[in-house]
Parts: sequence; C-alpha cells; structure tokens
Amino acid sequence: MRLVFLLLLGVAIGAIATANITSALRQRDAYPRGLMNVMQHDLARLRADGKTQRCDAATMSSLQQLRGLAGGIEVAVYAEEPPDPPFAEYARRLRAALPDTIDCKALPQALDKVGAACDACHRQYR
Ligand code: HEC
Repeated sequence: MRLVFLLLLGVAIGAIATANITSALRQRDAYPRGLMNVMQHDLARLRADGKTQRCDAATMSSLQQLRGLAGGIEVAVYAEEPPDPPFAEYARRLRAALPDTIDCKALPQALDKVGAACDACHRQYR
C-alpha cells in the first residue's frame, strides 16, 4: 500500500516538474519567436508589395519595423549574455542587407538578399 502511494506521489511530482519546465522553456522562447514571426510578417508584406509593384507609406513602415526588430535579435535570443560571434555577424549581415529606402522596382531583388541573410543564420542557429 505504502509502495503504491509513494509510486503515485513520484508520478505526480514528475508530472508537475515536467509541466513547469515545459512552461519555462516556452516562456523563454516567446520573445525570440515573437520577434522572428513579426519579422516574417513584415518581410511577407514587403515581398507582396514588391511583387505587385505597389509601394506606399505602409511599405515603408514595414521596412522600418523590420529594421527596428532586426536591431534587437541578439538581445531577444541571448538576453544579457554576449551573443556567439558568428551569430552576431549573421545579425549584422541581415541589417546590412536591409535597404535604406524603398525603391519599388529594385525591391524584389533587395528582398532576395534579405531572405538569404535570414536563411544563413537559420541554417546554423535555428
Ligand atoms: C542572427 C540569427 C538570425 C537571423 C538573422 C534571423 N533569424 Fe529567424 N530565427 C533565429 C533563431 C535562433 C530562431 C529560433 C528561435 C526559437 O525557436 O527560440 C529563429 C526562428 C525563426 C522563425 C520561427 C519562429 C517560431 O515561431 O518558431 C521565423 C519565422 C524566423 N526565424 C524568421 C526570420 C526572418 C523573416 C528573418 C530575416 C528577416 C530572420 N528570421 C532572421 C535566428 C535568426
């Protein structure tokens, strides 16, 4: 009887610990994943505008938001710790690939470079 009780207690403690760890991991990833998903959204918006050759103020604000978010990648992923040097280099290359202004005609080509900069980091770190 006592053995069964102890066994059940062990299972219950295990389940609670697993739930806590899972939730902690999910919370830890929420910031970088949120940032990445919004960048993805901005990039899709820019791609669509480039494809249809319809650029307006909203195109520019997507670019500005993407630039702002790209500036926070290291902090989102590494928090207080210094980022891996190659990681920081990938983030820097992404920022360098982002155009300064919207040249609608050249936008699709410019965005191919941006997409390549995203993929380069993902291949190693995602
Ligand atoms: C310097 C590295 C780096 C760069 C540059 C980068 N990413 Fe990421 N990305 C990551 C990492 C690391 C993850 C995994 C995050 C996690 O699961 O905690 C990730 C995950 C993602 C995800 C999946 C998020 C999820 O919900 O799991 C998307 C979407 C994404 N990135 C989009 C982008 C886009 C779009 C760009 C370029 C505009 C980009 N990333 C540039 C490092 C980078």
